[in-house]
Amino acid sequence: MAEWNNSQLRKYNIKLGKIPVLQHDDPKLDSYLCNNKPVLIKGSQLISSALNWDIDYLQKHMSSICCNVMISSNHRFKYYDQKKITPTLTFKPLSRPSPMTFSEFADKMKKWKKGDPRLYMQQALNNSIGHHIVRDFVMFNWDWVISKQKICKWGPLTSNLLLISQEGNITPCHYDEQQNMFAVVRGHKRFILFPPSQFECLYPHPVHHPYDRQSQVDFDNPDYIKFPKFKDACGYEVVVGPKDVLYIPIYWFHHVESLMSSSYTVSINFWFKTGPIEKIEYPLQDYQKMTIMRNVEKMLGEALHDPNEVGSILRTIVVGRYTSDEN
Ligand code: FUM
Ligand code: FE
Repeated sequence: MAEWNNSQLRKYNIKLGKIPVLQHDDPKLDSYLCNNKPVLIKGSQLISSALNWDIDYLQKHMSSICCNVMISSNHRFKYYDQKKITPTLTFKPLSRPSPMTFSEFADKMKKWKKGDPRLYMQQALNNSIGHHIVRDFVMFNWDWVISKQKICKWGPLTSNLLLISQEGNITPCHYDEQQNMFAVVRGHKRFILFPPSQFECLYPHPVHHPYDRQSQVDFDNPDYIKFPKFKDACGYEVVVGPKDVLYIPIYWFHHVESLMSSSYTVSINFWFKTGPIEKIEYPLQDYQKMTIMRNVEKMLGEALHDPNEVGSILRTIVVGRYTSDEN
């Protein structure tokens, strides 16, 4: 399979460090995972039984399965929560869901030419996906990933998404509310990660907005007048290839690009809930503060019966009480 090179990485005006790379049996690995530190893991064999999952194999075994496919008029697939679209909001997403059978998706991928809308399939792996795929799925290295879940006291596995992306597609910067073990099957994906402490540099949309959890900054064309602190953003990057697993800690922002090393990428994520908190220790960790911020916003929105008032009431508190010389 083709390799990637630096010329395939999009250029951004962001300071970038590197994400550490460890072997699956490195004694230091558990400390990264248990302390919410991202790490690229080699040699875990997590998805070895899926390494033959190319479009032809999946078309053969999933042909009539209805799949979640997103269509976009540009290369950015910015996720939004349909439930948060209200009648009063003028919201025009550039990508839209277009459910279709796997066969239809595969045909569109094969016939795709420049200028056509771009495609990105994001389908949950469940027991409706056909017995060949289920057979490969049960042969994942569950022992390894479940041992990590236990050691780190994560909660249950909630889902595995199968992601099939055209080269050049981008998942813009956002954070998720779960721990993610992200495995690449085919092609290469470049990830840029930012810790939750960079919240103020990345300007996520308010929680009640359909783009909740997504950064408002367009990395291709940042508006430094609206988002001045984006200049201080400092990320960590890594290219994830076949057999690699990237640990993306809960609440870490991530931006993802499918590179040109192949015409499409196939990957599978493993999403785990965080475990119950046994003993709260202070100072709180950044991810715990993120949960508090989200809950405060949600509570205010509900109490005020109007999410649009949340910003102004928070501003009143900050300007009125916390912006004086006495602080
Ligand atoms: O495009 C992607 O692979 C996105 C992954 C993620 O957001 O976890
Ligand atoms: Fe994500």
